[in-house]
Amino acid sequence: MRPSGKARLAGVIGWPVGHSRSPRLHGFWLDHYGIDGAYVPLAVAPDDLGRAVAALPALGFRGANVTVPHKQSVIAACRTVAPLAERIGAVNTLIVAEDGAIAGSNTDAFGFLESVRQAVGVVPAGPVAVLGAGGAARAIVAALRDAGVQDIRVVNRGAERAEALAAWFGAGVAALGWPDLARALDGAGLMVNTTSLGMTGQPPLPLDLDALPRGAVVADIVYAPLTTALLREAARRGHPTVDGLGMLIHQARPGFEAWFGVYPDDAAVRAVRGLLEDDLRREQGAMP
Ligand code: ATR
Repeated sequence: MRPSGKARLAGVIGWPVGHSRSPRLHGFWLDHYGIDGAYVPLAVAPDDLGRAVAALPALGFRGANVTVPHKQSVIAACRTVAPLAERIGAVNTLIVAEDGAIAGSNTDAFGFLESVRQAVGVVPAGPVAVLGAGGAARAIVAALRDAGVQDIRVVNRGAERAEALAAWFGAGVAALGWPDLARALDGAGLMVNTTSLGMTGQPPLPLDLDALPRGAVVADIVYAPLTTALLREAARRGHPTVDGLGMLIHQARPGFEAWFGVYPDDAAVRAVRGLLEDDLRREQGAMP
């Protein structure tokens, strides 16, 4: 459905923003529900971020998603920031209130937990090994803490970043290096890759899964390719797996509801997943 002059407006703010799948995803849901709305890519350079966000209410936007590289710096442009987003140190969703105030929140943590729940039924309670200590790792560690996980082992190439993350979250989060991988995997109920390794164009994640218990769930937040080398190896070993597309889709649900008034149901989630899988397959097929 083409937006009318009364269409509700939202978008995604990034730099660059051309890689973002959010316009496809939200555009699909708008059509699915027959909503008079538009969700557009907003390429905003870092120096323009404050002005661009401040202009959203005047332009009639109900809000926006925020992606790389603005998730941290956008906090300064929000009137209020949800406690979970404060804890993560990043905002990915902006909601414009009736009075024009901009509220920042973070739905990545919810997206991750929901993707694990939908793929394997529950979030494993046992120790969790988190590979990587960047922004995505912070959202996932916060999510796991809120889900009641007491023993989180953050494994990172750079020690300082892992230690800073562990110190930020406090007791129950330990910092380890790649040489300690076997120790991190020992007894774990879940392992999640939050690094960019394994993504199309990046080197694969060098990984020895021998120390991981048999029933442990293996999750990857990389979704291009959909089945990373890590997930393929994990499946071959019989581990339940969770790919990265679920997190992308589930993190989008609360924003869609806030801007367009409908919480996308499970059928809408399945349908958009089919669309995005087709996109990914086409892109992989088009690659040399
Ligand atoms: P994001 O916000 O998506 O998490 P990021 O903040 O750039 O992205 O974090 C990227 C993560 O991938 C980091 O944990 C990084 O490790 P370092 O902190 O040691 O840089 C990890 N990473 C990226 N490339 C890597 C590589 N070649 N080997 C190991 N880890 C890598």
